[in-house]
Parts: sequence; C-alpha cells; structure tokens
Amino acid sequence: MSGVKTLSEFIIEKQDDFPFASGELTRLLNDIVIASKIVNREVNKAGLADILGATTQENIQGETQQKLDVFADDQFIAALKNGGEACGIASEENDDFLAFDSLRSKNGKYIVAFDPLDGSSNIDVNVSIGTIFSIYRRVSEMGTLATEADFLQKGENQVAAGYVIYGSSTMLVYTTGNGVNGFTLDPSIGEYCLSHPNLSIPKNGKIYSINEGNLAYCSDAINNYITYCKEIDKPTNRPYSARYIGSMVADFHRNMIKGGIFIYPETTKAPKGKLRLLYECNPMAFLMEQAGGIASTGKHRIMEIEPEELHQRVPTIMGSKNMVKELLSLYK
Ligand code: AHG
Ligand code: MN
Ligand code: MN
Repeated sequence: MSGVKTLSEFIIEKQDDFPFASGELTRLLNDIVIASKIVNREVNKAGLADILGATTQENIQGETQQKLDVFADDQFIAALKNGGEACGIASEENDDFLAFDSLRSKNGKYIVAFDPLDGSSNIDVNVSIGTIFSIYRRVSEMGTLATEADFLQKGENQVAAGYVIYGSSTMLVYTTGNGVNGFTLDPSIGEYCLSHPNLSIPKNGKIYSINEGNLAYCSDAINNYITYCKEIDKPTNRPYSARYIGSMVADFHRNMIKGGIFIYPETTKAPKGKLRLLYECNPMAFLMEQAGGIASTGKHRIMEIEPEELHQRVPTIMGSKNMVKELLSLYK
C-alpha cells in the first residue's frame, strides 16, 4: 500500500493535533465514514433498487422526502447511535433533535448536525448529490441527555465539519480546523484515500453559481452583481461562467477547486433564503474559511450567527475571497 494514505490512517495521525484527544473524535469520524459508505452503495445502484422516487411523507420544512433522504437519514442515525461517541444528533429530515439514551451515548462528548442527503431533486436524474455534517462539543453536562442548547451553538464552535460528494467518484472532504483535506473512495478496496491534501480555494474565480430563475425575487445588490458577472471586461476575466447544479455540495466542491462564488440569497418569497444554518451553512462556512474563502449572509459572517432554532435558514454567499468581497461591497 506504499504511497496510499487511507482516511483512517490520516485521522489517527492527526489525532495528536487535539489537546486532550482521547480517540473519541476519531471514532466519531469513523462512524460517519461507515454510514457514508453504506449510502454510497445505495446511491450507486439507485436505478436498480427500489430507492428512486418520493415517499408519501413531508419533512419539517414541508418538502416531500425522497426514499434516499429517509434511507440516508436512517443510516447516519444508526451509525452515530451505535457508535456511542455522540450524545445526540439533529438532522434536516427530523422535526426535533434526538438525544441518545444509552449509558455510553449519555457520556458522549459530541453532537452531530447533518443534512443526510443534499441535492434531493437530483437523485432521480443521476446528478451528483451529497451528505453534509457538522460536529460540536456538547455544552450540557456529561452523563445526561443532550439538550437543545447543545445544537444551538455558533458555527465558530464547530470541532469538525465535512461533506461527502457522491459524484463521478465519491469523495469525503473534511476539516478539523487545521485546513481542508479531500479523500477519494477507492471502490476496489472500500477505503477513502488521500487525493486532495490541503485544499484551498483560488482567491479569484470565474464561476458564479446561483438559481438565476429567482432573480426577479432578489435584491438590487444581487441583481447588480449578476449583471456585473455578465459584463465584458478583459482585465477582470469577465464575463464569468454560470454553473449551477442545484446540489449545494456539488456546487461548493467545484467552486472550491476551480474558484468561484455560490449564492443562495434572501428573496421576497424566502426572506431568510433557503439553506439551513445548522445542517448546510455552518459546516460549509467552516470548510470555506479553512480553504481560504469567505462565507457570509451578505451582512454577517455565517459562523458568528447565534442560532435561534434548529431549522433556521440564512442567506448564503460563499466562495473565492475577491469574488465574495466584490458582492459584499454592493450590499453597503
Ligand atoms: P436538500 O436536497 O438537502 O433539501 O438541499 C437542496 C438545496 C441545496 O443543495 C441547493 O443548493 C438548493 O437547495 C437548490 O435549491 P433551488 O432548487 O431552489 O435552486
Ligand atoms: Mn441540502
Ligand atoms: Mn437534504
């Protein structure tokens, strides 16, 4: 296996970066890895197994749940519950957080917030989808049940965050606050292998990602910025290219590698935007900042927001430093 570093080897190597590390975070990350491999297996045979399409249920946000949303949610919950390192979880697909009540879980140091399946509208059409996760140290007393306060923490308090992209290959990208590293799943050995060490987003980019169909509902700042993106100006490499997949994970991943800006702003129809602070915006903001980019609502740094509720939504702008700065200057 010379030359190949697996994710498990990498995590163990990095364990010493944490003061007082005792292996729990390593085991917690491993639980997430296992669940992601099971989800990956189902995603890969989605057209064959009876896993395409919608269920008859809606989630708390009033969105119809896809079968794969529910499957992925169940897998991550089971892995984290059985692992015993997390005292509870909150998921985009569940109304409330879950506090695990086994003795081992009650003594777990961490909570995990996740979007089990990001990009649900792309499942049935074979376009990249993902999973997003965010890990915090609990604030409630060890040995007791997790409380809502454990989940309503600022993004700045995250201990680790990451995503899995089920794309042309499957990758896991994560940070523990010491940079961002990406691992590609080698299906022949069933292991994630280090393929993208020290990921950083280019300072300047050429890609803008927004659902332009919503522009009529967007502010002047957003409309003016998109007009700016389309203007011809050789010195600043404009016009930029429009790329929008509709899976945040995939749009984020492409922009991080190539340079770009991802925007899901407030609109007159959705005054707080669409994306969810706990499950989508905070983990992606942590990764974006660790990769050298900026993550903002337009008015505030995302990771400084004090969450008020589990399913809170916030406007989202993230990407290459100079591109985000250009847009933010229009907000003033
Ligand atoms: P989810 O599938 O977890 O509900 O998330 C979908 C999100 C995000 O992935 C994507 O960027 C955005 O919704 C797309 O929304 P629009 O279809 O409104 O552009
Ligand atoms: Mn999502
Ligand atoms: Mn989702």
